[in-house]
Amino acid sequence: MRRLLADRPGEPADVLRLADGPGEPAPGPGEVSVAVETVGLNFLDVMLCRGTYPLQPPFPVTPGVELAGRVVGTGPGTEALAGVDVIACPTLPRGALGETVTLAAALVTPRPSTIDPIDAAALPVTYQTAWFALERAGLAAGQTVLVHAGAGGVGIAATQLARAAGAEVICTAGGPEKTARCRANGAGLAIDYRADDFVTAVREATGGAGVDIVIDPVGGQVFTRSLDCLAFEGRLVAVGAADGNPPPVDPLRLIANNATVVGLSWGSAYPWARPEAVREAYDRLFALHAAGAVRPPVSQVVSLAETPTAMADLAARRTTGKLVVRVADGAERS
Ligand SMILES: NC(=O)c1ccc[n+]([C@@H]2O[C@H](COP(=O)([O-])OP(=O)(O)OC[C@H]3O[C@@H](n4cnc5c(N)ncnc54)[C@H](OP(=O)(O)O)[C@@H]3O)[C@@H](O)[C@H]2O)c1
Repeated sequence: MRRLLADRPGEPADVLRLADGPGEPAPGPGEVSVAVETVGLNFLDVMLCRGTYPLQPPFPVTPGVELAGRVVGTGPGTEALAGVDVIACPTLPRGALGETVTLAAALVTPRPSTIDPIDAAALPVTYQTAWFALERAGLAAGQTVLVHAGAGGVGIAATQLARAAGAEVICTAGGPEKTARCRANGAGLAIDYRADDFVTAVREATGGAGVDIVIDPVGGQVFTRSLDCLAFEGRLVAVGAADGNPPPVDPLRLIANNATVVGLSWGSAYPWARPEAVREAYDRLFALHAAGAVRPPVSQVVSLAETPTAMADLAARRTTGKLVVRVADGAERS
């Protein structure tokens, strides 16, 4: 069975190799084996290769935390899933970037026939993360949301979901091509932070009031400076640290601003801690997809062999939206 493996930490193009080895273990009680058709790539796959992911598993690692495929083997208790087309989020270090993967049936969701395998692989992690980030922030219609890295996977998902809930969205992104992508995706204002100071631009755009919610996948100084963008009782949701960890927050600053900071880690916790809420979120996401409000932003489809190079582009911020790996030949758009 072919799979991508990183034996040591490093840049994806340097450490990922296509290995042909023994297959996955047979599914045990409560598990299924899935023939992988497509895999959605995420920035955290880059972090996994580098060894910098906060919940880093030991090497060797097969990256890939979301896939679309078909159940080809079942263990005791999962027989009803035999032959079902699914979306799944495997557990590391045995990630999705291989021909088959064995995982807990609890991490598998039947895929509606209206969603093709390419869109399906681009949906789970970014949309579920954005969904719970906005839920934890208490999003309501009419509020204003500031989304950083608005042309990235999480950023695009957060923008679409906030717009679908009746909110106004302001995005930040690096460069005119990315800000154009943000506006096309529904942002009322997209700030090129390389050209303009985003705190000043947000203050001006909101008449000095600030935004109700910030969704921050970037971290570092972006996190810290975002506190200056919050309105009265504003909420900042930290979902990632693509640019590095933020410096410590002074509680006095939160008190002075009546601000709330929320941390969110979806894949490591929600499928286990709130499985019914995750199932409900999938149902809502599938309905929004059918209505055209959720549009997975697939910008490129690559083969397993091309994946290390594609991940180098992801690491270098050259990509917008989502990259999807087509593992099986038959995984075409329907
Ligand atoms: N909490 C969770 O459950 C969860 C789930 C999924 C992802 N995440 C995290 O969310 C973050 C974004 O993930 P994603 O999949 O949306 O990534 P993505 O599509 O690759 O977008 C990341 C964007 O972040 C911006 N960025 C700022 N500083 C950067 C730097 N030093 N290196 C690279 N990019 C930088 C870039 O946009 P500009 O060029 O516009 O600045 C880049 O395109 C990652 O940290 C990821 O680990 C968290």
